[in-house]
Amino acid sequence: MTSLTATALPDDLSHDLAVTRRFEAHWPTIQSRLAGVYGQDPRWTGFITRLRQSVLAAAAARPAALQPLDAEREARPDWLAASGQTTYTFYADRFAGDLNGVRQRLDYLTDLGVRWLHPLPLLEPREGDSDGGFAVKDYRQVDPRLGTMQDLSALADDLRSRGMGLILDVVCNHTAREHAWAVAARAGDPAYRDFYIVVPPEEAARRDAELIDVFPDTAPGSFTPCPEMGGHVWTTFYPFQWDLNYANPAVFAEMLDVLVFLAAQGVQGFRLDSAPFLWKQAGTTCRNLPQTYAIVEAWRAALSIIAPGVVLVAEAIESLEDVLPFFGEGSGGCDLAYNNGVMTALWGALADEDAGIFRRCLSASAGKPSRAAWLNYVRCHDDVIWNALATYAPHEDLARWSRFYGGQDPSFSRGRAFQTAAGGVPSTNGMAASLAGIAPGENGASAGAARLALLYGIIHGLDGWPLIYMGDEIGLADDALYADDPLRAGDGRWLHRPMMDWTLAERRGDQASLEGGLFQRFRTLADQARKLDEHGVAGPARPVDLGVASVLAFERTGGARGFLCLANLSGAAVSVDLPHGFGVGATDLLGATSPKGGSLTLPAHGLAWLVTL
Ligand code: GLC
Repeated sequence: MTSLTATALPDDLSHDLAVTRRFEAHWPTIQSRLAGVYGQDPRWTGFITRLRQSVLAAAAARPAALQPLDAEREARPDWLAASGQTTYTFYADRFAGDLNGVRQRLDYLTDLGVRWLHPLPLLEPREGDSDGGFAVKDYRQVDPRLGTMQDLSALADDLRSRGMGLILDVVCNHTAREHAWAVAARAGDPAYRDFYIVVPPEEAARRDAELIDVFPDTAPGSFTPCPEMGGHVWTTFYPFQWDLNYANPAVFAEMLDVLVFLAAQGVQGFRLDSAPFLWKQAGTTCRNLPQTYAIVEAWRAALSIIAPGVVLVAEAIESLEDVLPFFGEGSGGCDLAYNNGVMTALWGALADEDAGIFRRCLSASAGKPSRAAWLNYVRCHDDVIWNALATYAPHEDLARWSRFYGGQDPSFSRGRAFQTAAGGVPSTNGMAASLAGIAPGENGASAGAARLALLYGIIHGLDGWPLIYMGDEIGLADDALYADDPLRAGDGRWLHRPMMDWTLAERRGDQASLEGGLFQRFRTLADQARKLDEHGVAGPARPVDLGVASVLAFERTGGARGFLCLANLSGAAVSVDLPHGFGVGATDLLGATSPKGGSLTLPAHGLAWLVTL
């Protein structure tokens, strides 16, 4: 018989109590956010009653092995702000063949200082072209080429035992046209027809005029004729990616079930793919509508009851003022969001050797709620979208950066132009090594390597989680041969989705090589970033203008010690006068510079992380 004392409750009972407490704290948010979206729908009462039951049942069924991490994170909500949560993003097949291959590479990642893994979509995609896995056929199966759900759980377990975490993509805006829901819809099942959006041809044309094309060259328009569905199906991205109909509350509930199912496999975070597009409304661009933010907040609140240790990441490559609301009101929406504005601004600032655009974006991004964190990055598997900076830079700047990196103007960059919506400037494709101008055969002392390391040095100093794109740590080059593969040739983004080159990675111990020079610098950055908490560095990064255009600077003043990051965007050494507090006694955590007499000299593309005494 179990004995009950005031301090030790049996596990199941303490879990029950925790669920009750969490339910009382978060159910009102679910109810109020969803009432705003579905309250007028005749299905509302039945829907919310069933949802209440399923949330409670899912919370009760949370696997015991995952409960301690939930409790730990719930007790310390500021864990999100802890320094050094370096994240690594990659295609599992291109990095290590399959999921078991990834498990074999964990020492490499730990050596790099990685704390979180974000493999790009790995759930079972449609056959043939699947937009890099972003057309999911079954959310409850792993792509058989990568392994099984057991392999995924095993990877999640390995990571948890190393104090690391796994973030998965949940492609929540659309399914493949081969998903069981779409198959049933095409077969005429009315319940599943209502999972998608079908309009007559005239309405498709009218709505298309309001929308902004994502792939105007390869997939123009946002509708695809489908005789089986009796009209045009809404397809924001490729014709085989069918947008879900979030006006149907059953879609919200099904996607929550998917999140809960994957969280039960040990997944600790979800990247909500294409989050801005969930809600559609005539007369708008159907991006970033209030209902979309409400849906995301309701998912967050449900997970806070069921699996509070799990984080949600907004993939919203939009202007900062449209990204910020993804962090939600009150107790919150997404825990993290891609800091797309700052990422794009970094490349613009590097091209111009002028930190102005970075300062404008950093000021805006500092408006994030303190309970949430930015995912700061330099490159990812998508193109660099200059148009997302339109609020912060005139069109001529966007056009200049687009030409600079896309190969139209003379520059150090080796990137290529990508398609753009009418009125916009072409986006840019290419690995960071290419955009930074690393030419074949160059070593770790090259200007290109210094530029790449500089950008990564900046994002490791910002508040938030630094994200490394696979291969950047060894300066991996483009995959120019993608064009020979008929399945990939049509989409220029495959240029920067190469296979990991493990032979090159073997050189990571050799400082003189490109790979070693970069890898060692990345490792130092991760190590030092992790120690920022210990050094008393905290709070949001805020821009500082030191009066020298080519010096990008920001400070963080929320902790016991002041922190100032200085980055020289130019290829020539530069001296700056340091702000009060940094002139005397400050040290450079990266050990590369030493302030003297109130000023500091930064070498070409030099970086300093100064902390006050
Ligand atoms: C996201 C992905 C991108 C994909 C699109 C459609 O933006 O990052 O790669 O093409 O969603 O799923």
